[in-house]
Amino acid sequence: MLDFVGSQLYNLRVPHFSEINATTRYCAVLGHPIKHSASPGMHNPAMAALGLNWRYLAFDVDPCDLPQALQGAKRMKFVGLNLTVPHKLLAVELVDELDVSAQEWGAVNTVQFLARVGGVAKPVWQLDPDQEAEIFTRGYNTDADAITRSIEEDLGHDINGSTILLLGAGGAGRVAALKFAAEGVANLFLVNRTMEKAEAVAEEIRERFPEVNVRCGYPNSTVELVVNATSAGLKATDPLPFDESRWSLSRAAKAYDMIYRPAETPFLQAARLAGCKTANGVGMLLYQGAKALEIWSGEKPPIALMRDALLKNVYGTAAGK
Ligand code: ATR
Repeated sequence: MLDFVGSQLYNLRVPHFSEINATTRYCAVLGHPIKHSASPGMHNPAMAALGLNWRYLAFDVDPCDLPQALQGAKRMKFVGLNLTVPHKLLAVELVDELDVSAQEWGAVNTVQFLARVGGVAKPVWQLDPDQEAEIFTRGYNTDADAITRSIEEDLGHDINGSTILLLGAGGAGRVAALKFAAEGVANLFLVNRTMEKAEAVAEEIRERFPEVNVRCGYPNSTVELVVNATSAGLKATDPLPFDESRWSLSRAAKAYDMIYRPAETPFLQAARLAGCKTANGVGMLLYQGAKALEIWSGEKPPIALMRDALLKNVYGTAAGK
């Protein structure tokens, strides 16, 4: 009996990959560079677990070739694409339709290929092979929801009504700031090496979310959460993403770093030593990918399996250390 139960569990945990054949359909991530992408490692086992004869590939695409790459994937009836640095803003102008998520956050990280059949939009992969239909692209943003979902689930932090210090006002920082505002953050402090960029994001928040108390600069009182959305920490020689002479991690209860390689960045290590509860950005990668798979397949994504596969791919072990 135990053996039977054990083997059932085993079958659930180990996805069965169907052989690549003439009916296999494709997804891919496009980026430049792309060689460190963990997305194929996360998506392929998930697609197999859902019983889909799909494969997820990765292509290094120069930004100037992005229009042709999108056209090529469309002509080859791909299921969908993910886009990573530096394509997310460019793609806003290249897709045929923008989902509200992409309109709201001004960036596209997920593309779905659709066809209109009898006036109804249908995923291309659901068409009969010989069915004639004009294919079009719809762009989504699954990054913004992934930021708050990861913070809520990995740190147990409710954004709504909280006080947050956000470090960074580049592409990722801007989307995080706007998403926190949309989720009802009460007090948002913005700090960026180039403070004019933080001011511009603060101004956008004041216009779109006037109920949020947004200020530029370090807070005098404690914050519930500090988030690193800068790229400082990607290299071992990088400085901490804040000015230690002006602010201390002992004034935060929780710390989140969007960087996930290494698993514990110098920022997270300092935060842990200062007594903060910490989490890195691997959850963001997981949830943006899970949502993309849900958009493409219409199925509930196997989150636990995707998390294990991602951690193994990034850290070499499902324990994620
Ligand atoms: P992304 O799309 O990943 O956000 P980005 O738009 O280039 O990339 O933004 C990088 C962010 O990291 C910016 O906030 C940048 O600060 P500046 O706006 O002043 O350039 C920040 N950053 C990069 N290196 C940094 C460092 N050494 N110290 C502090 N902030 C840094």
